[in-house]
Amino acid sequence: MSAIVGMGTALPTGRLTNKDLEATLDTTDEWIVERTGIRERRIAGPHDTTVSLATAAGAEAIADSGVDPTTIDLLILATLTPVQQLPASAVYVQDNLGLQCGAFDLGAACSGFVYGLVMANGLVETGGARAALVIGAEVLSDCVDPADRSTRILFGDGAAAAVIVPSAPGHGILGSDLGCDGSAAAILEIARDEKYVTMDGKEVFRRAVRACTQSATDAMDRAGVRAGEIDLFVPHQANTRIIDAIMERVGIDASKCAMNIADYGNTSAASIPLALAEAKPNDGDLVLLCGFGAGMTWASAVVRWGTGQ
Ligand code: ACO
Repeated sequence: MSAIVGMGTALPTGRLTNKDLEATLDTTDEWIVERTGIRERRIAGPHDTTVSLATAAGAEAIADSGVDPTTIDLLILATLTPVQQLPASAVYVQDNLGLQCGAFDLGAACSGFVYGLVMANGLVETGGARAALVIGAEVLSDCVDPADRSTRILFGDGAAAAVIVPSAPGHGILGSDLGCDGSAAAILEIARDEKYVTMDGKEVFRRAVRACTQSATDAMDRAGVRAGEIDLFVPHQANTRIIDAIMERVGIDASKCAMNIADYGNTSAASIPLALAEAKPNDGDLVLLCGFGAGMTWASAVVRWGTGQ
């Protein structure tokens, strides 16, 4: 098995509040808070990029883990906002961090971090990598139409990272579920040659609740745990109403839920690791990660916090 031993985050300093948006869009703070739970988001400045944010989060995670960087054999950068099409943004992060390891971008939108965690777990627990660095990083403000009130209110920028190492049996990633329904690709996309995201918000909402409920349940079944045992639920921070609906269906008490959507909005692949890092689980806590995103993709993982070593 493998476990998370260190985490890091990086957030741009620029803030965009609902009041700021009221000045340029036909919207209100009340509407945004009631429909989404979002109050403000962080927005990349001229020197912030997916690579710079990922590098900062990755460096903090490595320092937090105490792991010798020369033992990191794999870097996975989950992002839907690479700095350029070729090569992968992960290669710049690898170079910035002075790592000597395989590195690639992972495209599973907001499910990307949990997809990456499950990939890293597969390699680390079988000895294919001594340690792995999984990062979720996004500059989504580049791909929302400033004039589109239905998407601009939702998204923010940021990054977070985790270092994965082998763990004792019963600790680390106990069970997971990855899924995708490509027939729903068109409900949330940036079409070829287009710059901005388009979204059928109601359809995303409906499918997100269904997919996450099933995925979280399947991951818990594989881990052999019940919803009542979960100490910390870390859902993708897309909309408080989506999160509430999932918790009700899965049977998780709201007091167990990590929530930072009010401060950062939806940061896609960075959202789950950001919320996880800020929640600071205790050793032995049973943590449930659950996300959904464009594709539609979904992903869940049940983690017993700590390495048990
Ligand atoms: N301010 C004010 N009014 C608005 C705004 C706004 N920002 N946006 C839409 N409206 C209006 C609509 O035009 C509509 O008006 P109408 O009734 O006159 O037509 C009305 O508000 C209701 O709009 P709905 O779309 O029905 O509002 P809904 O309650 O569904 O909320 C929302 C919209 C917040 C987008 C919701 O559907 C949602 O969160 N969906 C999921 C989105 C999501 O999670 N996306 C990210 C996926 S993750 C990834 O991979 C990136």
